[in-house]
Amino acid sequence: MVRSARLVVVAVVASSAACRSAPEPVDESFVRAVPDEADAAVPDQADAPVTDDATTFEGRPIAPTMSHLGADWLGRPERITEEDPDALHAALAVRPGQTACDVGAGSGYHTIRLARAVGPKGRVIASDLQPEMLALLRDAVDAAGVRNVEPVLATATDPALPPGGCDLILLVDVYHELAAPEAMLAAFGLALARKGRLALVEFRGEDPDVPIKPEHKMTLAQVRRELEPRGFRLAQQFDGLPWQHLLVFDRGG
Ligand SMILES: C[S@@+](CC[C@H](N)C(=O)[O-])C[C@H]1O[C@@H](n2cnc3c(N)ncnc32)[C@H](O)[C@@H]1O
Repeated sequence: MVRSARLVVVAVVASSAACRSAPEPVDESFVRAVPDEADAAVPDQADAPVTDDATTFEGRPIAPTMSHLGADWLGRPERITEEDPDALHAALAVRPGQTACDVGAGSGYHTIRLARAVGPKGRVIASDLQPEMLALLRDAVDAAGVRNVEPVLATATDPALPPGGCDLILLVDVYHELAAPEAMLAAFGLALARKGRLALVEFRGEDPDVPIKPEHKMTLAQVRRELEPRGFRLAQQFDGLPWQHLLVFDRGG
């Protein structure tokens, strides 16, 4: 049972979400919840109008950016059972020759799987805010022997993706920590190819048994509230992952 899973408290150095354009590590945060926090389902905001400041989006508290100092957590062996990446990539069904854009790629956990899926005629653009993450990603890509990955340095408002160039934009455990989601969603819209897809993978906020801190989880309702008014249509919902939503959006029509 998930509740009985060992609650490993993993320290990550977080940056202030209040500082949207230049995140700086300022304090410690914990991606893993302690049991009381894990019990708290993320509340869906009511339909009442919300007034956002720099720390919220559509009433949702923006999570701090996970620092490269916590990158070991991204490669933890138990991630296989907690997140089932094989099932995720089977559901994404990326095809050879496509261009996949891994935004918030971190140390490359999903980048390498995408690189193998698109094959030598495809390419993966791996975007991250932190040069240190991109250095770790380059090492992982080299060790894996894949040659079709292009790391790019993002800013808080610009994922540095080619206009109209992405068949898939994938964000795994990233969207909830975007400091400037409005700007990033606009950038994703510009970067998607015709018929391109935007896939968000987020720890399920509806599920108190998922032992992740509430600000690092999202409900389906929250994701839809943020994306649908900005021109994205929910095209696919995959419920087969242990702890996460996989929500795939397109541009509609
Ligand atoms: C929790 S890690 C997830 C890493 C990777 N997707 C994975 O599943 O292993 C979140 C990553 O998103 C990156 N990130 C946060 N905001 C970003 C932005 N605006 N543009 C690009 N990357 C961003 C962080 O630097 C961090 O590497």
